[in-house]
Amino acid sequence: FGPLHAVRGEILHFLADPAAHGARAVAHFPDGLLVIRDGRVAECGPAAELLPKLSAALPVTDYRGKLILPGFVDTHIHYAQTDIIASYGEQLLAWLEKYTFPTERRFADPEHAAAVAEFFCDELLKNGTTTALAFATVHPASVDALFGAARERRMRLIAGKVLMDRNCPDFLRDTAETGYMESKALIERWHGCERLLYAVTPRFAPTSTPAQMQLAGQLFAEHPGVYLQSHVAENRGEIEWVAQLYPKARSYLDVYDGFGQLGARAVYAHCIWLDDEDRRRMADTGTAMSFCPTSNLFLGSGLFDPGRARELGVRVGIGTDVGAGTSFSMLQTLGEAYKVLQLGGQKLSAESAFHLATLGGAHSLDLDGLIGNFLPGKEADFVVLDLQATPLLARRMASCETLSERLFVLMMLGDDRCVAATHVLGAPAYRAGPAAR
Ligand code: GUN
Ligand code: FE
Repeated sequence: FGPLHAVRGEILHFLADPAAHGARAVAHFPDGLLVIRDGRVAECGPAAELLPKLSAALPVTDYRGKLILPGFVDTHIHYAQTDIIASYGEQLLAWLEKYTFPTERRFADPEHAAAVAEFFCDELLKNGTTTALAFATVHPASVDALFGAARERRMRLIAGKVLMDRNCPDFLRDTAETGYMESKALIERWHGCERLLYAVTPRFAPTSTPAQMQLAGQLFAEHPGVYLQSHVAENRGEIEWVAQLYPKARSYLDVYDGFGQLGARAVYAHCIWLDDEDRRRMADTGTAMSFCPTSNLFLGSGLFDPGRARELGVRVGIGTDVGAGTSFSMLQTLGEAYKVLQLGGQKLSAESAFHLATLGGAHSLDLDGLIGNFLPGKEADFVVLDLQATPLLARRMASCETLSERLFVLMMLGDDRCVAATHVLGAPAYRAGPAAR
């Protein structure tokens, strides 16, 4: 892959949110060409229009018969929970005690952290995900391991050390001061290093003292461009607990607000049990929501209301939330999102779903200037999908007439078997072997 090359195939990307802008938001080239210069998009359009203008010597990777989309953006995931995906029987608080804390304890060992980080990044790429906003653990070295693995793969990744100084086992507890100092050192080491960005990461309000919450807000304010990630309004027991711990707060979200933890580049997972005042406050501050359908169903947490978030103008991305989430696959996650909306009497069109997984997710992370679609100058991260990857898919696709129908079947039936290749900054970072089928 020299400085200038191209890929040819069916290309789909979004210029805006199709729910607001309709067909004008969708760019679709049945025989398209994506021209890449130094890892960035140079041009994207119909092959018949672009090829005659380009040198015959331009190397072109032929993906005809496959669908090329911008790399998926997973706006909420825990790399350290890779080994507890699919753990039986509990809702949030008991699940944390029984499965999560014991598995996160193992990240005190940097070798374990490095091994899981490598697996995790490979698994993201195998699923077509090229950007994620990820929790590490309370151990600073767990962040080094994750950023190290992502840097080797040249991925755009946002991550941070968990801040947790109460209501957790001793072996996972930091203090307000050590959490602050360790986060600061990690920001200096990693934020803005190549494609890596740092997120201040208070786990959730119950596991941080007010002193730690205050310092987390301070870290966020002191480092322009740094992110903040946490969880809010996921589970009813959790919400009651927060009300006891913070009796003066108007709501769970208001706890974070009181400590300066809302704003652009602040991203909250779940956001199920919010009221409209909370949603308005998120919209007004530019705070984003991460919708985690497989996790919300798996832990029995509740049904996210994307319609209301949209009406009130809140930015929304989609997250797998592995290990409470049950799949690394954004296709599977979109399929479950559709079902969550169905249960709430809403609809998720296939176009809106794929927008959410690409440009919408990038926008929710304030990264839509860099990734999310194929406008010239964007970083050329993309996934190459095989819509005939299984006999059932091939059979079902054969009876689809429109692009919308094919995309819908893809998100309902597709998974990592559909990912033929994933490219990062133009270059292949994952290619399916025959074993992937
Ligand atoms: N709330 C606090 N910590 C967690 C976590 O690890 N996973 C989920 N789903 N919710 C949380
Ligand atoms: Fe989570």
